[in-house]
Amino acid sequence: MGDAEHMTDSQSERAAERDRGKGQSPAPLSDLLAVKQDRRSFLRAGALSLALPAAVGALAACSSSGGSGAGTAASDSTEAGTGGGAGSALDRNASSRADTGVHAGPGGSSATPPTQRDAQTTAFHRYEPTLPPVSGQRTHKVNWTVRELPVRISKDLVVAAWTFEGEIPGPVLHVRQGDTVEFTMTNRGAIPHSMDFHASQIDPKVAFKTVVPGESISFTFRARYPGAFMYHCGTAPVLMHIGTGMYGAIIVDPPTPLPPAKEFVLVHSEYYLKPGAGGVSVFDYDKMLTLLPDHVVFNGRPGQYLDEPIRARVGDRVRFYVVNAGPTHPCAFHVVGEQFDRVYLGAPPETPIRGVQTFNVPAGGGMVFEYLADIAGEFPFVNHGFGHGQKGAVGLLVVEP
Ligand code: CU
Ligand code: CU
Repeated sequence: MGDAEHMTDSQSERAAERDRGKGQSPAPLSDLLAVKQDRRSFLRAGALSLALPAAVGALAACSSSGGSGAGTAASDSTEAGTGGGAGSALDRNASSRADTGVHAGPGGSSATPPTQRDAQTTAFHRYEPTLPPVSGQRTHKVNWTVRELPVRISKDLVVAAWTFEGEIPGPVLHVRQGDTVEFTMTNRGAIPHSMDFHASQIDPKVAFKTVVPGESISFTFRARYPGAFMYHCGTAPVLMHIGTGMYGAIIVDPPTPLPPAKEFVLVHSEYYLKPGAGGVSVFDYDKMLTLLPDHVVFNGRPGQYLDEPIRARVGDRVRFYVVNAGPTHPCAFHVVGEQFDRVYLGAPPETPIRGVQTFNVPAGGGMVFEYLADIAGEFPFVNHGFGHGQKGAVGLLVVEP
């Protein structure tokens, strides 16, 4: 941190400006972060981290046995709107397909018409990054509801999201290799949706098929490999459904547990937005195609772990399950001031690569990163593709003595 810690925001901005002007060596991390639009700068977060209790977000990560109705912020689904008239295009895609580029509807937006009341009453909460415990059961009954509703992703930004269980990302599922997942999804939204688990091996045309509003789909799979896997809505255009919030992580433990650790789940994703009615931003399909996101985030909210860092103690092993929902860009995962002693590209604990500074998690992929936290301090974790880090894919791990 050094000198940067004592700079004011405006000093930092000038420093960042200088470095941009040079067009050569990249600006120091602290400078880059100090010009975050939402002003929750890394510098300020450093001070805040001393003052804030280890507040835990309101979201209780879903237990592996699931449970429906967690969408507490759900507005009446009849008010959730028409999905921008996307129905006609989507109805033609009755089964899961690759992204056809089908337009999302007039205006190409998520276009749920939430009211002013929605924007004002949707509270911000930090997405809990701690991996929920795995249950002792070998069969996990999971019943989830799909809704379109406004989600507040920062103090001043509400988005017209399409969600699993009313949340971005959806709940973290945690199972063990060989476990059976009995999954049911009920569509309480206004447009068709579906579910695609990357942890499954199953006929997608049957299991991942699109269900219309008011209907449910059930399927069962066994988690064959351990690791960090994505799930997402696979209804066309997939770009739009992932891009509008329909994704999450399923973590599969190996039969012999990995060494004890502080375990965190980070789902990386991009937001492509434009202003909408009632102070609620809508997702912009055309912008998704430009590949230029407004925000790039861990667990659905830009910079949320700057304001409320994640925490460990010296001597802890720290393990990150990094799932990149995309929809498009890679996540060059890196922890400033640390090196990973193991990165599992595939099924842990087999064949980790060692001594890794940064590794790209591709869109649609998931990897496990870990190291022994043997040094106290504040360690930013970032997408080291800094155009993305600058847009919000940054947080702080505080290692306490
Ligand atoms: Cu969907
Ligand atoms: Cu997929």
